[in-house]
Amino acid sequence: MKRLEMKIIEEGSVLSDSVLKVDSFLNHQVDPVLMKEIGEEFARRFSGAGITKVITLESSGIAPAVMAALTMNVPLVFARKRKSLTLREGLLTAEVYSFTKEETNTIAISDKYIEKSDTVLIIDDFLANGQAAEGLIKIVSQTGAAIAGIGIVIEKAFQDGGKLLREKGYKVESLARIQSLENGNVEFSEEALV
Ligand code: G4P
Repeated sequence: MKRLEMKIIEEGSVLSDSVLKVDSFLNHQVDPVLMKEIGEEFARRFSGAGITKVITLESSGIAPAVMAALTMNVPLVFARKRKSLTLREGLLTAEVYSFTKEETNTIAISDKYIEKSDTVLIIDDFLANGQAAEGLIKIVSQTGAAIAGIGIVIEKAFQDGGKLLREKGYKVESLARIQSLENGNVEFSEEALV
């Protein structure tokens, strides 16, 4: 998605060979116009898949996911990372290990909001090692719902997550794929994906 790539070039900063900071439009401040376009692009790429629900993980997945859900006219459910005062019973959970933060979080969604008859689209802001997506897949799998695919705003193609998920047969659509962040430069991947 060209406009997203331009935004990354203009406003992103490379913190290291593996970390890109995009706080001005995705991870802290949010650009709603860009998010709306991102939501429409996800809807286009997964059109015809019969999606009945969008699922993401708090917090930065919520903005792109809600825009995709709005475009598709379906609800959005976000998994919680922290214990909620009101969400205590009937929880579907999975453990998510973050290689970046070196910590494990339990993520949770109420069993009220995903049904066996659902076809879900998983959305997240970043795809690195794929642990967050795998956690959401584990939660959805406990319900018997179908997974139409995984929509990612920024995939770091030099990390393993995308490869592992595609090898498992999931349709992964990333709106920007970064091949390298070496020497402070953002290089996008031109590689065609099957
Ligand atoms: P993984 O799920 O693909 O395995 O990713 P990982 O554990 O490495 O990532 C942990 C957190 O760091 C996630 O956010 C993820 O979105 C974010 N992240 C990973 N790589 C980058 C990067 O290069 N740049 C930025 N900006 N974020 C990155 P989180 O902790 O869930 O944060 P939030 O959703 O609450 O904002």
